[in-house]
Amino acid sequence: MGMSMMKGKATFFLLLLLPVFFSVGYAREEERGERGRGEIFLLQHSKQVFQTDAGQMRVVRGLRTKGVESPMHIGFITMEPNTFFIPQYIDSNLIIFVHEGEGKIGRISHGRQLEEGQLKVGDVYRIPAGSAFYLMNNGKDQRLQIICGIDTSESIQSGLFQSFFIGGGSYPRSVLRGFDQTTLAAAFNVSSSELEDILIGQEGGPIIFVKDADHLDRWTSTWTELLKSEYRHRGVPSTTASYSLYDRKPDFKNNYGWSVAVDEEDFSALRHSGIGVYYVNLTAGSMMAPHVNPTATEYGVVLRGSGLIEVVFPNGTTAMTAEVDEGDVFWVPRYFPFCQTASMIGPMEFFGFTTSARKNRPQFLVGASSILHTMSGPELATAFDVSEERLQKLIDAQRESIILPSTPAVPENTQQQQANNGRRNLGFNYS
Ligand SMILES: *[C@@H]1O[C@H](CO)[C@@H](O)[C@H](O)[C@H]1NC(C)=O
Ligand SMILES: *[C@@H]1O[C@H](CO)[C@@H](O)[C@H](O)[C@H]1NC(C)=O
Ligand SMILES: *[C@@H]1O[C@H](CO)[C@@H](O)[C@H](O)[C@H]1NC(C)=O
Repeated sequence: MGMSMMKGKATFFLLLLLPVFFSVGYAREEERGERGRGEIFLLQHSKQVFQTDAGQMRVVRGLRTKGVESPMHIGFITMEPNTFFIPQYIDSNLIIFVHEGEGKIGRISHGRQLEEGQLKVGDVYRIPAGSAFYLMNNGKDQRLQIICGIDTSESIQSGLFQSFFIGGGSYPRSVLRGFDQTTLAAAFNVSSSELEDILIGQEGGPIIFVKDADHLDRWTSTWTELLKSEYRHRGVPSTTASYSLYDRKPDFKNNYGWSVAVDEEDFSALRHSGIGVYYVNLTAGSMMAPHVNPTATEYGVVLRGSGLIEVVFPNGTTAMTAEVDEGDVFWVPRYFPFCQTASMIGPMEFFGFTTSARKNRPQFLVGASSILHTMSGPELATAFDVSEERLQKLIDAQRESIILPSTPAVPENTQQQQANNGRRNLGFNYS
């Protein structure tokens, strides 16, 4: 068991008092198995940032395209029950999404104010670059799984992110240890030996077990109360700004699935981040109709189920047809047409980030609300070099919009193939 309450109290004290600067970087590298060619929009470079018995963090790195590193990485944090992610700040903006379990988050806002709140499944929370925070899994016997968008556009080193641990000791190393002992002793007004006790004790890693999360919980609550009363008379409000993706009414829903997108109008914390968040739940075999994001690049993580992601190059050739499973990360550059289809085995849920917090209005190419539908007429028929009647017949055949059933495109033997290879086969093969 890593952390005594005394030590916890001390580190927390430090967290509140000192903005300091030193760096602790990536630990070790781990690449996921290389996939086939043509899966260029799957992000497959996964890096283990750290792993302990209490938890781990893995980062899927954004791609380097045309010599430019994508500024967005996707982080996966797993915390066992009764664990604590040591206070730190990061040189990148984090958008946190709770995939499983629940936990408590605390962060410093407005320079000194401690903002705390309980996060539950489906919640989204933003931690700005440079803002110190901690995470706690106080769920009784549930793992806490967090997926986060890591936007490195403000980071020290382009395309990388850096943690600065405030708490800690030997491992992780607290940034405080970078100061001269005498300086620090004077700054704290304590003896060097007293400081030593505090600054070398921790060796449990970035995520540690706590004997009693409830105790730590009560203790941090006391702190909040203290801070609140201090700030009440200064008129600074203490608010916990998380946003629930699952509790909200879907933006779109039909028999084949539903979707929700959160932008700066829904969740003002996104205004400063330039990042939007979305979630899609497709029933088995359904597809998000071919569409385009005119204003944003999209990153997606498959939360449950499996399916197919298709992306098309500007010149009308296939850029990617990739089978994806739970945990896979994909991205789709702005303007590139794409669609996602759930396997016949079961629903596919995915969630992700768009690089624009403004309303991103996807343009659908197929379906009742598509741009083809809107444009249909003699001009479009001429463009396709067919009669207007033929074109109209084609366009009118699909009555649904946005999320479509894929039944007509699935050949009769699909169920059989499914049984044979245990993976989905959608029977799409246009080329
Ligand atoms: C430092 O600690 C001593 C003894 O506890 C106390 O008398 C003194 O006022 C403190 N100095 C400051 C600047 O806090
Ligand atoms: C997604 O849909 C499936 C059924 O199609 C359902 O079992 C699941 O709970 C849904 N997920 C969420 C987060 O609502
Ligand atoms: C289409 O564009 C891609 C990507 O730029 C390129 O690799 C491919 O060769 C092009 N194909 C044709 C037929 O122009």
